[in-house]
Amino acid sequence: MEINGKRVVLTGAAGGMGRILAGELVAGGATLAMVDANAEALHKVAEELKGTHAVAGDLSTAEGCKVAAEECLQQLGGIDLLINLAGINSFAAYEDEDPNKIELIMRVNLLAPMWLTRALLPSMLEQNCGRIVNVGSIFGSIGFAYFSVYSASKFGLRGFSEALRRELADTAVDVTYIAPRAVKTPINSDTVMKMNEATKTNMDAPEVVVKKIVEAINNNRKDIYFGFPEALFVRINAILPRLVDKALVAQNRIARTFAKKQ
Ligand SMILES: NC(=O)c1ccc[n+]([C@@H]2O[C@H](COP(=O)([O-])OP(=O)(O)OC[C@H]3O[C@@H](n4cnc5c(N)ncnc54)[C@H](OP(=O)(O)O)[C@@H]3O)[C@@H](O)[C@H]2O)c1
Repeated sequence: MEINGKRVVLTGAAGGMGRILAGELVAGGATLAMVDANAEALHKVAEELKGTHAVAGDLSTAEGCKVAAEECLQQLGGIDLLINLAGINSFAAYEDEDPNKIELIMRVNLLAPMWLTRALLPSMLEQNCGRIVNVGSIFGSIGFAYFSVYSASKFGLRGFSEALRRELADTAVDVTYIAPRAVKTPINSDTVMKMNEATKTNMDAPEVVVKKIVEAINNNRKDIYFGFPEALFVRINAILPRLVDKALVAQNRIARTFAKKQ
């Protein structure tokens, strides 16, 4: 889908990748409604990007998503592209996870994209044009120790994206699933950054990832997995998961020391 001239709803627009993506979309000629829970940061982004609409709101409830979707539709006068980017993370041993945090991660990372899609898909179908972009993660294809809740939420998002894409195959609405590897943004706590260094985990700059997201949209990609060897491991994990179990043993031991000393 050519971004130029499109009406775009972008969630997580005040975040590390979101604010850069918002700038790229505006530079590419899109009209933008930006949603984020961080109202102060969102309004700063909107001030910098003239002509954009800031819709501050909490997407962790069905009602919050409905209200945000309605406001975006009203501000834009319709929608061509929904980019579900907002997300949260947790790095912890599963026995230490707070049940409320487990629920919140599933709400923000999985249910919010589903609720927003439910609210905005009808107008895309009606106008015979649209694209839904769900930003998942490499963790949505490879379950990582100490990121079990986050992994579960992104596995769910990948499954939703695949099923919906197949369901919409005979329509003019398409679905793109995007899976970045680790990116240097605030979603990763200091502990995660240090753990990534210790395990020699590749981390991309957000600018690089955002450029690839824009390319994926412009090129109508069905799905895309960023980075080598991560994208290859996704394939290997799908056919030979026991091999990946073994390959991750040493990394898991290091990760545990960081997860437990938090
Ligand atoms: N960075 C990575 O390593 C990485 C790798 C692969 C995939 N991803 C995915 O990329 C996406 C963007 O991540 P990022 O790195 O840009 O993270 P980020 O810098 O933390 O930005 C996420 C944004 O989403 C907002 N948000 C959180 N909960 C929300 C809610 N309930 N309602 C509305 N907005 C909410 C955050 O607001 P607050 O600041 O108020 O929380 C923040 O502005 C996420 O889906 C993430 O899972 C990231």
